[in-house]
Amino acid sequence: MIEQRARPGTFAIEDDGVDPATVPKRRLRSGAAIPAIGLGTFGSDRFTAEQVAEAVLGAAGVGYRHFDCAAVYGNEPQVGRSLRAILDGGVRREDLWITSKLWNDRHGDGQVSPACEASLADLGLEYLDLYLVHWPFPNHHPPGCDVGARRPRARPYIHDEFMRTWRQMEALVDRGLARHIGTSNMTIPKLELLLRDARIPPACNEMELHPHFQQPELFRYVVERGIVPIGYCPIGSPNRPERDRTAADTVDIEDPGLVRIAERRGVHPAIVCLQWAIRRGQVPIPFSVRREQYLANLKAAVAEPLTDDEMRQIAAIDQRNRLIKGQVFLWKDGQSWEDLWDPSGEITPP
Ligand SMILES: NC(=O)c1ccc[n+]([C@@H]2O[C@H](COP(=O)([O-])OP(=O)(O)OC[C@H]3O[C@@H](n4cnc5c(N)ncnc54)[C@H](OP(=O)(O)O)[C@@H]3O)[C@@H](O)[C@H]2O)c1
Repeated sequence: MIEQRARPGTFAIEDDGVDPATVPKRRLRSGAAIPAIGLGTFGSDRFTAEQVAEAVLGAAGVGYRHFDCAAVYGNEPQVGRSLRAILDGGVRREDLWITSKLWNDRHGDGQVSPACEASLADLGLEYLDLYLVHWPFPNHHPPGCDVGARRPRARPYIHDEFMRTWRQMEALVDRGLARHIGTSNMTIPKLELLLRDARIPPACNEMELHPHFQQPELFRYVVERGIVPIGYCPIGSPNRPERDRTAADTVDIEDPGLVRIAERRGVHPAIVCLQWAIRRGQVPIPFSVRREQYLANLKAAVAEPLTDDEMRQIAAIDQRNRLIKGQVFLWKDGQSWEDLWDPSGEITPP
């Protein structure tokens, strides 16, 4: 199916799609422009690699040019076939924005370059637009493992070790394998140290951001330092895996204030989440394999923006409800997941 669509010069935007030239962009410190919305590609254990790859192809057909990938999502070879079809169909490489991420078992000396090269080979690309350190903890966990799983030799964040990983990330930029490098799941104290010591500072920080988890302090911190925030779980990941749910979690798209705005505008609350994200200045990367959803999500980026009043209403519904808590990264007994996020304002001691 994917290969059948790879006919030279035939990649046109579908009639009901969005002209990629009209999708807003965010300017990075380098001067490069990242499309203000991208398609997530983590299938959350619910969709196969082939279904996600089909969605990438379909999404490009309705106008997406930004795809958020990662080695650990287990689908880069399949997504790569879709990217090949998109490029063979006439989309220029420079018009795509492709992100991938270094998984936690590849932080060690000599491991970053082979990991990046493997993603490039799987995605069928010569360079990435953005390569992120997926988590600041060097602890491998197999995809889909239970949140109670602990690695016997789990390690905390150790800045000197992280810098050794970061030096290897910087070398990828020097070699032209990644146009930009960045971080994900960081906190202010960790970023403080990285910004102090980096030769090439992070261009972007990918972080959980949705109306019920707005992270105003970290958001402001990165924006003020010229780091573009990329927002994951932008709709509040309503169908995330069971292992990532707790009884206390709230549901963004059921929030009465958000639902009221959606009803007034005649759209799904998911669309309001995305319009809020785009107007606020983060780059949301909503996931969906359903054409009507990913098309509606892209259209949110070119629709009439939310009003100042609607933005204020959404600012007021933050529940500080982190969904992706990261429990598997805890490194000693008796800790709570909050420890991973440096709640005291200092890096949680080892
Ligand atoms: N850096 C990191 O550590 C990290 C962590 C998590 C995620 N991410 C990235 O962020 C992406 C997005 O996160 P996510 O998938 O967890 O959360 P999300 O984008 O907030 O939620 C996705 C779900 O929302 C529903 N949805 C999407 N569009 C909709 C629409 N227009 N109307 C109604 N429902 C809609 C879909 O549910 P149905 O499928 O049931 O229809 C979809 O599965 C991931 O794919 C991944 O690329 C990165």
